[in-house]
Amino acid sequence: MCGIVGAIAQRNVTGILLEGLKRLEYRGYDSAGIAVLDRASGAIACTRRSGKVAELENALAAEPLDGTIGIAHTRWATHGKPEERNAHPHVASSRIAVVHNGIIENFEQLKADLQAKGHQFASDTDTEVIAHLVYDQLQQGVAFPAAVKATIAQLHGAYALAIMDREQPGLLMAARMGSPLVLGVGIGEHFIASDPLALLQVTDQFIYLDEGDLAEVTLDGVVVRDRAGETASHPVQRFEHGQDAADKGEYRHYMLKEIYEQPAVVEAVLEGRLGSDKVYEEAFGAEARAVFDRVKAVQIIACGTSYHAGLIAKYWIEELVGIPCQVEVASEYRYRKTVALPDSLFVTISQSGETADTLAALREAKESGFLACLTICNVPGSSLVRESDLALMTNAGPEIGVASTKAFTSQLVALLLTTLVLGRRHGLDPAVESELVGCLRGLPALFTQVLALDEPIKALSEQFADKNHSLFLGRGAMYPVAMEGALKLKEISYIHAEAYPAGELKHGPLALVDKEMPVIVVAPNNSLLEKLKANMQEVSARGGELFVFADKDAGMVAEEGLQLLPVPESHTLLDPLVYTLPLQLLSYHVAVLKGTDVDQPRNLAKSVTVE
Ligand code: AGP
Repeated sequence: MCGIVGAIAQRNVTGILLEGLKRLEYRGYDSAGIAVLDRASGAIACTRRSGKVAELENALAAEPLDGTIGIAHTRWATHGKPEERNAHPHVASSRIAVVHNGIIENFEQLKADLQAKGHQFASDTDTEVIAHLVYDQLQQGVAFPAAVKATIAQLHGAYALAIMDREQPGLLMAARMGSPLVLGVGIGEHFIASDPLALLQVTDQFIYLDEGDLAEVTLDGVVVRDRAGETASHPVQRFEHGQDAADKGEYRHYMLKEIYEQPAVVEAVLEGRLGSDKVYEEAFGAEARAVFDRVKAVQIIACGTSYHAGLIAKYWIEELVGIPCQVEVASEYRYRKTVALPDSLFVTISQSGETADTLAALREAKESGFLACLTICNVPGSSLVRESDLALMTNAGPEIGVASTKAFTSQLVALLLTTLVLGRRHGLDPAVESELVGCLRGLPALFTQVLALDEPIKALSEQFADKNHSLFLGRGAMYPVAMEGALKLKEISYIHAEAYPAGELKHGPLALVDKEMPVIVVAPNNSLLEKLKANMQEVSARGGELFVFADKDAGMVAEEGLQLLPVPESHTLLDPLVYTLPLQLLSYHVAVLKGTDVDQPRNLAKSVTVE
């Protein structure tokens, strides 16, 4: 998705802007650009390129920019093809330069009105109208900050904006509505970014803008006004993640690094949240106790991988808490008439905290009679966290690979903590809570054992690289694990992958089974194992090739048509966590063999902040 960086300093800011764009690359983009006020001439100097930030970097190496104030952008096309002329910054009449994340819904009408007044447009984007609207105000004698204010009052839709005026070399304007934006605080220099990660090379001090905020950013400081025009005094917050979070270190890809971080991530999710034999409910916030005391049902909403985490939580909640739990993808939920069960807790799950559909569903839910809204989220200060009553941070650290790995397992751990806190109020045996707390403490070590399967999984992956289709099977809570395995394989290796609850095979998908379609099975030693074995027989009988991840006590033996990978034993309720890691590794190695762009798969973006 798009990324914004802005800077005002006493030094050339081009390098800072470029580094910021590189740090935002993980979000997905198709073009990039930088504009500065040229130090020598005072004119706007703008360089844009379609493709990777490296293309822009090459262009800047050939023709460097030099300015102490500038804005920059990585674009993920929504209006207009991914071409250089549609890349940001967009400049109106050589005076106003704009970078924008989000979507302006009424841009066609605004553009027609501006064209009628004689404004000439150079792109197909919605963004360019913003530059012209500001310029139009300036032409009417309105000062730059007021011109920006008058402009955003005309915009319908979502935006995060950084705007520069050639005639105001000491001032950047920033605005936020529906798309995240932060201000970075330095000493005698200030910054703007859509994600703090973009600025960690220059500061770890941030001001998180609220919806409707408009900020004036100068060398000496920032002034933020809320939507009512009142001065807002947001605190300066220190960024908590390590400075090296955006560094691949010894790993070939961020995805592999993030897979290997999972033992440490589990420790981070559990830190400060476990007593000797219970989960501390205070971890959920000051009002949590009063809310949890009343919860009689749960509605979970999320997208993609986070949705799969929700599906697994449904099994946990209905089994351990004994209350109804419904799970739905946000993009469907937000557009249908829904009914909240009495005393129902609305739960969103999101790595980024900015997913547009999930955020919209939360906003709907707040008007729909839910008891309270809890978010399970990885990004402090994100929109979901700010707009929910309760938040449980997953503490996974920045996830750079587009394919979600450590964020997923951290969400599962957080959801299990939530289940235990709710279970306590619904008669869950304290001994069961205590046992699961012990198992959670042992999970980092168990994860380390599972990661030791990397080499055999790498060897196995060679049998997938020439395949076009695959089927993932599981039963019970392992069905969503299979769904997540299939999503991982398809998004990074581009192999078509489908997941089915194994009992559904005979109702259709069995027709697909032949030697060319690997069938991957997650088979822990649980109460459904015998049923699952019968389903596997259905595959074998049709000449299908089975790749089975199973616990050593599952009583399975490798034979022709059945390859076996033993997975360490765990508590049944923790199996979804344990069996996820081998599937992540399998997808990773298949993608590497296929030579795809593992960290930035085609057509995808890390943080989906538009609908
Ligand atoms: C999974 O690998 C993807 N990155 C995607 O499905 C993702 O989980 C989804 O877009 C939801 O994102 P969120 O967790 O940031 O809300």
